[in-house]
Amino acid sequence: MKAIAVFPGKPGSVHLAEMPMPNVHEIPNGRGVLVRVLRVGVDGTDKEINAAEYGAAPEGYDFLTIGHEGFGQVEAVGEHVTELKPGDYVVATVRRPGTSIYDLIGTNDMTTDDTYFERGINLRHGFLTEYYVDDAEFIVKIPQGLKEVGVLLEPMTVVEKGIHQAYEIQRRLKVWRPKKAAVMGAGTIGLLAALVLRLRGLEVTVFGKTPKPYLNSDLLEAIGARYETTDNLPVQEGAKKYGPFDIIFEATGYSPIVFESMQALGKNGVLVLSSVTGGDRTVEVPADKINLEFVLGNKVMVGTVNANREYFEMGVSDMAQAQAEYPCWLKKLLTHPVKGLENYGELFDKLTNAKGAIKVFCEVASL
Ligand code: BGC
Ligand code: ZN
Repeated sequence: MKAIAVFPGKPGSVHLAEMPMPNVHEIPNGRGVLVRVLRVGVDGTDKEINAAEYGAAPEGYDFLTIGHEGFGQVEAVGEHVTELKPGDYVVATVRRPGTSIYDLIGTNDMTTDDTYFERGINLRHGFLTEYYVDDAEFIVKIPQGLKEVGVLLEPMTVVEKGIHQAYEIQRRLKVWRPKKAAVMGAGTIGLLAALVLRLRGLEVTVFGKTPKPYLNSDLLEAIGARYETTDNLPVQEGAKKYGPFDIIFEATGYSPIVFESMQALGKNGVLVLSSVTGGDRTVEVPADKINLEFVLGNKVMVGTVNANREYFEMGVSDMAQAQAEYPCWLKKLLTHPVKGLENYGELFDKLTNAKGAIKVFCEVASL
């Protein structure tokens, strides 16, 4: 069977590889699930992997099958899988357990190990292929009614984890009732963060670079969020006008915004950082002021990456609520489909160059 792969360490090496067909017995204890891949989304991480800035091949291979935002349908299950059956729509989680205490209790997303085992990213083959097999433990069922948007679940989980962590942390306040939120960035993660915060009943202001109106600002306004470009309204002025922000979700990929966000955060507020910034940018900041306001305002800042099974389950239920509350909204994020694994060139071209793209994804097989 075909797979889209890279040679880690070799820039621009994306190519079509040949892989043997997997089967459920590769997973011990009868807990294997064979999944036929239907759709796979791509993002900045895939770009970095193809640029050889990140990623490693599994042991015994010189290539890595990429793709970590999968969506598929169960083809076969091992004899001890009772929670899934052939025909079910599913999404697999990304990170697999390491050895830290957090991995041992099933929270691989919180590992303190230095090595990550992530399907499609590091040391484990991904989902841009025709079939894959995994332990039922890592496979989450998607209701039939969400099949058209199921490919958005993995990016959704990044948001779910960040927001859930923020609410968990804020239990320190005993009576936290957040009213106003800001989201930095209006890409896929920013849009989904705004959605989840709207579903929680918050007033949401999204700050972006692109002048409005454009698709992303229209989408935000359709769910009752506000969009502001930072050229017209810098973040800190935005905080005076629309704050105080009880929660800020940062998803721009541009680290200097973190320090702006720290200053825009309200008293007792929580700032969630989700941008993976691999560069070496430096910036001068009003350190005394930022520190003082954090101390006097009892503020919190938390970093978040990856997501374990519970956040995939939360993502499913929020996607269902989104479909009920804002019908057809999620589907509009799926702007750039590319048919067939063999068109990996077009997939990467769209990922890099398509103007106005929100989610670029491969239609491996029809739904
Ligand atoms: C993925 C996460 C992953 C992270 C770092 C992101 O693109 O969505 O699951 O943990 O990259 O590898
Ligand atoms: Zn990703």
